Amino acid sequence: MTHSFPNDTMSSTTNTSGAPSTATRPVVLTCAQPTGRLHLGNYLGAVINWGRMQDDYECYFGVVDQHAITLPKVPTELRRNTYTCLAQYIAAGIDPERSHIFVQSHVIGHTELAWVLGCLCPLGQLERMTQFKDKAHKQEFVYSGLLYYPVLMAADILLYNAHVVPVGEDQKQHLELARDLAEKFNRTFSPTFNVPEAFIGKTGARIMSLQNPASKMSKSDPNTNATIYLTDTPDVVRRKILSSVTDSGSEVRVGEDKPGITNLLAIMSAVTEREMGALEEEFAGKGYGVFKAVVADAVIARLDPVRLRYEELIQDTAHLDAVFKAGADAAQKTAWKTLAKVHRKVGFVERAR
Ligand code: TRP
Repeated sequence: MTHSFPNDTMSSTTNTSGAPSTATRPVVLTCAQPTGRLHLGNYLGAVINWGRMQDDYECYFGVVDQHAITLPKVPTELRRNTYTCLAQYIAAGIDPERSHIFVQSHVIGHTELAWVLGCLCPLGQLERMTQFKDKAHKQEFVYSGLLYYPVLMAADILLYNAHVVPVGEDQKQHLELARDLAEKFNRTFSPTFNVPEAFIGKTGARIMSLQNPASKMSKSDPNTNATIYLTDTPDVVRRKILSSVTDSGSEVRVGEDKPGITNLLAIMSAVTEREMGALEEEFAGKGYGVFKAVVADAVIARLDPVRLRYEELIQDTAHLDAVFKAGADAAQKTAWKTLAKVHRKVGFVERAR
């Protein structure tokens, strides 16, 4: 598997900010809100890629509970979802031995750095964020935490001096802000932060709804057949794939006139790691029914071990707590260093020890 990187920052340790280069592996950081169940789109579009980066990068994966409360949350659900999130990541291939998986609120430094960055961030830039406008629009009250969301995200990234940040399209504007704030800090004080690059996964892994291939596969889809969850049993997965919408004609090929079949080919390609072209050849003249049955088998073969591992992990809260502790300990070490440097540069008096 090769991944493409936006530029050559990965292969070298130089960076655009002029900050001291590190002799160690470049740092990857990404975070996800504890939203509960992951679906096939999250898995194939994101988590699989993160898993593949673990050998070549120093990886930090955060479960961002502080971001989660920017919109109202039920406390018991938030806590449960934080564990669910961890168990699913581990089951999906994030290895706590090789990566640092932590809860945002466990590490002192995220909100502290966000404060400093916020003091360099023009209000107008936050008010213009499209995600803020979308979310604010849907709320009766808009709390200031929601406005501050992207500053906290910038702090998540800069606290670990990340080089590469895997994000979805919808987070690109937030990443731009993180880059702006890194540059602003470096200019205002002195070179401190890497200016992080986005890592947007392969386009082939953009997984669409099984019932309406014009929109992305989503957890909030009202049609429950549209979305495959990592926790779906084999029968459920098979039923959803066999009943997915297809297109006119009968040929199995990629095409704008064939969004349903194109989506199934993308899914098949991602789970089997085979090229779409090779799949088109294999299924030439075979028809939709045969193809769907094979896709169902391939998805089940890929997901079922993940589901079973998840079921095991979620029973063992003590183990999950231990993973979170190890992740937070490692993350905190880096966080202290960054925070001390930042506080010194802005002119805070160092606390006597
Ligand atoms: N805002 C991101 C999302 O909803 C989650 C996130 C928080 C994040 N902090 C981050 C992603 C830092 C990448 C890096 O998807």
